[in-house]
Amino acid sequence: IKSIGILTSGGDAPGMNAAIRAVTRSAIYNGLKVYGIYRGYKGLVTDEIQEFKSQNVSNIIQMGGTILKTARCKEFTTPEGRAQAYENMKKHEIDALVIIGGDGSLTGARIFAQEFDVPCIGLPGTIDNDLYGTDTTIGYDTALNTILDAVDKIRDTATSHERLFFVEVMGRDAGFLALNGAIAAGAEAAIIPEFSTEVDQLEEFIEHGFRKSKSSSIVLVAESELTGGAMHYAERVKNEYPQYDVRVTILGHLQRGGRPTAHDRIIASRMGVASIQALLEGQRNVMIGIDDDKIVYVPFAKAIKNDKPIDRELVNVLHELSI
Ligand code: F6P
Repeated sequence: IKSIGILTSGGDAPGMNAAIRAVTRSAIYNGLKVYGIYRGYKGLVTDEIQEFKSQNVSNIIQMGGTILKTARCKEFTTPEGRAQAYENMKKHEIDALVIIGGDGSLTGARIFAQEFDVPCIGLPGTIDNDLYGTDTTIGYDTALNTILDAVDKIRDTATSHERLFFVEVMGRDAGFLALNGAIAAGAEAAIIPEFSTEVDQLEEFIEHGFRKSKSSSIVLVAESELTGGAMHYAERVKNEYPQYDVRVTILGHLQRGGRPTAHDRIIASRMGVASIQALLEGQRNVMIGIDDDKIVYVPFAKAIKNDKPIDRELVNVLHELSI
């Protein structure tokens, strides 16, 4: 391998820039040429590709978003789009790709790598933390801290008015942000998609916490068709328990921005360096993860299976502490 291309794809996540910096610098350190590919797979198809030197990634480690921009690309889902992408790789003599993104992005990489024999290395970049094989994903810790700041503020007004707040957080179909956000913010409960078919989480919460001793409460609800979202629960409470004064806050895209935390910058830097090591070792079609504080290689098929388990211990912690 003499040169690599790097791209960010799917939803952006704080720490992606730290990862771009690490991949670029580590590649140059190891004698490789680096190409920045703009707007995710779209830029690979439409040839928005530029050689990156070390200075191209100066002064970005502290920035949220992604300097490479990102997109969800329709063309790349077609064989013709992927063939065009491969042509552009050949044109620039790019031998391998490092893809920073979530499960959709790694799924794209997996298909591309199978079709064209291109070594692809994935870095888990998503606030959702829903990739299997890594303790956390790049961006998750920052989003969690953003949620924490927001919920701390909501708590002030919730307490003053003695209200029940449903705060909706992102996560697509994963409850990591909601559950750990609830623990960290000292919220009373989290409603998460992983348990939506097992129990009536609202009923449990009302029985367990709200009714007994509290005059104000905060419940984090993971956005998802499976939970129905915060509005759904607010409506239910209004109908079933009209004695409660209910409000809803949907945190939305503010969870995707901001300066990355130390944790996200460090894992992004470690994973970026590891991606180049992996390519130099002849690895292909794996996602870099950090498991038990050690770098691991996770085959794409495993990483994107979408069944990263929620730790029951966390559920118990939240439950016990919300009395
Ligand atoms: O995957 C990251 C994420 O922020 C999810 O939590 C959310 O469901 C989705 O992206 C929102 O996507 P968009 O920015 O395209 O609205």
